[in-house]
Amino acid sequence: MDLSGKHILLGLTGGIACYKCAELCRLLVKAGATVQVVMTEGAVRFITPVTMQALSGRPVARSQWEDEAVGRTPDGMPHIHLGREADAILVAPCSADFIAQLAQGRTDELLALLCLARPAGRVPLLLAPAMNREMWAHPALQRNLAQVQADGAKSLGVGCGSQACGETGDGRMLEPAEILAELVSFFQPKPLAGQHVLVTAGPTFEAIDPVRGVTNHSSGKMGFAVARAAAEAGAEVTLVAGPVSQPTPRNVRRIDVQSGLQMLQATLDASQKATVFIAAAAVADWRPAEPSERKIKKTGDSGPPSLHFVENPDILATVAQGERARSGQLYCVGFAAESHDLLAHATAKRQRKGIPLLVANIGPTAFGRDDNELLLVDAHGAQSLERAPKIELARKLVVEIARRIAAAG
Ligand code: CTP
Repeated sequence: MDLSGKHILLGLTGGIACYKCAELCRLLVKAGATVQVVMTEGAVRFITPVTMQALSGRPVARSQWEDEAVGRTPDGMPHIHLGREADAILVAPCSADFIAQLAQGRTDELLALLCLARPAGRVPLLLAPAMNREMWAHPALQRNLAQVQADGAKSLGVGCGSQACGETGDGRMLEPAEILAELVSFFQPKPLAGQHVLVTAGPTFEAIDPVRGVTNHSSGKMGFAVARAAAEAGAEVTLVAGPVSQPTPRNVRRIDVQSGLQMLQATLDASQKATVFIAAAAVADWRPAEPSERKIKKTGDSGPPSLHFVENPDILATVAQGERARSGQLYCVGFAAESHDLLAHATAKRQRKGIPLLVANIGPTAFGRDDNELLLVDAHGAQSLERAPKIELARKLVVEIARRIAAAG
């Protein structure tokens, strides 16, 4: 599980977004974390400590003076112990007033006190701000937030949309699933920091006419997992996606395309800045030579139309033969979906495409599934990554790519 072995101190401050923190707490626990909730008196006005206790499985700490937390720390110093026990302190929702307290180093309540008392080099402080859009835009708030970040806290940012007050704009708390994704990402190692990773994913759709086309069963799950893992590993990520229904991973720039030709153009454009190209898309090998501009109608006697196909350009081979790849500025990785003789096909395909690394899998046991197994083939031989969820394999793959880039550089 993504947060196995992690102990998270979840701090709630006053704001209507507190209602979302019941769900956030549940997601953290489901991801394998143990959670200690600390609430300010403002937060208690919005959601009951009983709810948070039930969901976290621990008494909620509220005060440095008189509550359960003191009972569990015989020396009466919950502000010292609670912070030191945590792998991270996550304040969600984080109110404007709490940011002001942090900026000034104030210790009005237990939560602010333990944030100030935490060993800053060892216990990270993550903030999920939540407030009205005017408050969020106010120079005082932005000044305080800049100060808090300069002092070492990390703001996860805010969402944009309709607010409880009836207004619309920036300042909503991120959704619980987004906060979880940020937290999981925060704990991942960053071997791709400074890299710009370009990923293709999903199938392509080659039009026959305005209502029909040729496509394949690729779900895009593996490519999207690779894009997510690369972003978690610290890279700037561009994802060129064929028609799939996958949600965009956080901190990934997504470009949607339909056909192989569109995917080629978008990939060539984005490859100008990329330092790593990972071709995970299942590009259709052929496309109808002359798609009809109008829907092809049944014409009775003449029977079904006959379609003439032409070959699509090989996007990976085109990029791999380009100037940036040949001069060593762009590291290219291919995928191969095979049905048999995996190693032989993968070895031949790597050489044919002219790329340093090829990732092979058995197509029928991978398509649409959440898990997969991979065979990494490079100039030195083959290495297998055993069956695991696609996101875990993707995380291992980006580590392997980073290792090869470092060795080559
Ligand atoms: N690829 C590509 N553009 C294409 C075809 C394939 O970029 N027009 C990329 C895929 O994204 C993948 C790799 O090439 O990274 C291999 O794809 P695959 O379909 O397995 O290989 P093909 O070259 O099409 O060979 P074959 O279908 O004959 O096995």
